[in-house]
Amino acid sequence: MTTAMGRRSDGPMGGAGREERPVSPSAHPPVLESRAYSFWYGPTQALHEVTCAIPRNAITALIGPSGCGKTTFLRSINRLHDLTPGARHTGDILLDGGSIFAPGTDVVGLRRRIGMVFQRPNPFPKPVYDNVAYGPRLNGLAPARELPDRVERALRQAALWDEVSDRLREQQRLCIARALANEPEVLLMDEPCSALDPIATQRIEELLVELKQTYTIVIVTHNMQQAARVADYTGFFYVGRLVEFGATQQVFTRPVDERTEAYITGRFG
Ligand SMILES: Nc1ncnc2c1ncn2[C@@H]1O[C@H](COP(=O)(O)OP(=O)(O)OP(=O)(O)O)[C@@H](O)[C@H]1O
Ligand SMILES: [Mg+2]
Repeated sequence: MTTAMGRRSDGPMGGAGREERPVSPSAHPPVLESRAYSFWYGPTQALHEVTCAIPRNAITALIGPSGCGKTTFLRSINRLHDLTPGARHTGDILLDGGSIFAPGTDVVGLRRRIGMVFQRPNPFPKPVYDNVAYGPRLNGLAPARELPDRVERALRQAALWDEVSDRLREQQRLCIARALANEPEVLLMDEPCSALDPIATQRIEELLVELKQTYTIVIVTHNMQQAARVADYTGFFYVGRLVEFGATQQVFTRPVDERTEAYITGRFG
């Protein structure tokens, strides 16, 4: 079997470890635990009994195809669904052993302990984007989904593209700094590099590896090479289910579930 990480090799999970799913490896006691957590947007069930233990001072990557519930799960950990109309859940999520849903939980305090860096809706600093998109928007020149391309073309034509890219890199690190200023225990990141070029991505990845000395990091990424490079543990979501969770080495070289294998070998995505 050949995987996203290359040829199969015997790593620390080799041999007898093959059937194990190290949801709570003793080297990294869990800071977060999800216990049979299910979630609904109105009638639509987005998560089905997600159970896992997120190890402390480690990087955990959540991977999986679009729409399989990664963001929904991340936002649940920060109780960002509290105000979503029709949202409900069953099961539990624990931080340091205490339910984040316990009555009387200070949600502001919870969000200080669990910081979040959001996915950028488009690869531009917002003021720049809004300025350039202003005309086409006002004049109804382009459907919303074509606006980013139009903005990029205009910026390139005005020779502003490189400067904008520089600012974007700074902005993403600024977002991370803003989350770190609260000195959280856990940092949740939803595709923090999706809009960045490879050099900026590498900077962020190096930063993450430094940060895990102090923080626990959970990162959603579509980039499997990124997961393989930076994550100690990897969870694979598929249609609302956490199909596999384990040491990154094991998930990428010896996946237990055939759906994980199909995904990491690029048979769907
Ligand atoms: N506010 C919402 N209301 C109703 N359904 C939603 C809402 N947000 C997400 N969903 C649905 O829940 C499911 C999971 O979506 P989610 O955004 O968590 O997936 P994802 O894995 O993060 O996808 P992507 O990789 O595209 O970011 C999808 O079917 C999506 O359409
Ligand atoms: Mg998402």
